Amino acid sequence: MAALNMGRSVAVIGSGAMGAGIAQVAAVAGYTVRLYDTRPEAVDKAIAGIASALDKLVARERMSAADCTAAIARLHAASTLDGVRDAGMVVEAIVEDLAAKRGLFAQLEDIVGDDCVLATNTSSISVTAIAAGLRLPGRVAGMHFFNPVPLMALCEVVSGMATDPAVAQLVFDTAAAWGKNPVHARSTPGFIVNRLARPFYAEGWRLLSEQAADAATIDAVMREAGGFRMGPFELMDLIGHDVNFSVTQSVFNAYFGDPRFTPSVLQQEMVNAGFLGRKAGRGCYQYGEQAAVPAA
Ligand code: NAI
Repeated sequence: MAALNMGRSVAVIGSGAMGAGIAQVAAVAGYTVRLYDTRPEAVDKAIAGIASALDKLVARERMSAADCTAAIARLHAASTLDGVRDAGMVVEAIVEDLAAKRGLFAQLEDIVGDDCVLATNTSSISVTAIAAGLRLPGRVAGMHFFNPVPLMALCEVVSGMATDPAVAQLVFDTAAAWGKNPVHARSTPGFIVNRLARPFYAEGWRLLSEQAADAATIDAVMREAGGFRMGPFELMDLIGHDVNFSVTQSVFNAYFGDPRFTPSVLQQEMVNAGFLGRKAGRGCYQYGEQAAVPAA
């Protein structure tokens, strides 16, 4: 099996943070990309954002002006879902909601050809459940990128119970063709990264609740002695506490309330307070004009 034929276009459905990043890597790798979003302004914003990111690469001499122009020319807005009819592969990056994803794929089955692969960027929903009920569930696989997509090399290629191994391999090879380091995984709650990371965050919250040390000290220990690029609190601030909390809840529920994955009450309060991390200007740290400082 090889990567998606370069003659086939890639449809990216959902043009938010992840969809824009996915469209960028696919276009830079030489694929024609059609972006669709229920909010057309999100598509315009994504294309403008990609153009600006690529312009910066040109300014830093990390991309030629000709390659930049060609990549931007490969990006097309689809004003309706019908506009992705010729896609060889769809990458779905819409809201993290099972019913929404199922509904979208059911609609797409009536639009795209039977050989079109349906990939989902879900971070926590069962790929098996997303595919269930479709006419051709074997063509659904997870293609889980990490944020920011152009910078993060890992891509988890997730097989649900019905996923055709040839489809998983095509997604794997396509991710590699887009410059990523893909790994195969089966659809278990949190897949590999979001599962393994749960105890990292949970023990951080427990240490904090027990007043073992403050967040900055725990982060510094993990960075300087533990060899991690970021400690748990700075990482959660980057991800967003709302997103991080809901992934923990989802893994906890998927394991029928296994206490190992119990969400943190302290983090729930941070979400209640709107202290969502960098994007809110405040999380475990405060963000402002100056460098981040620990929140009081
Ligand atoms: P986002 O909120 O930035 O973008 C989602 C976009 O989807 C919005 O522009 C929205 O208008 C659009 N949308 C919603 N319903 C739609 C529908 N039915 N049809 C077409 N467009 C629709 O969200 P983000 O962060 O880009 O996440 C998208 C997906 O990627 C989610 O499943 C999320 O769990 C997953 N993901 C997110 C990561 C992150 O760090 N943000 C990391 C890895 C996966």
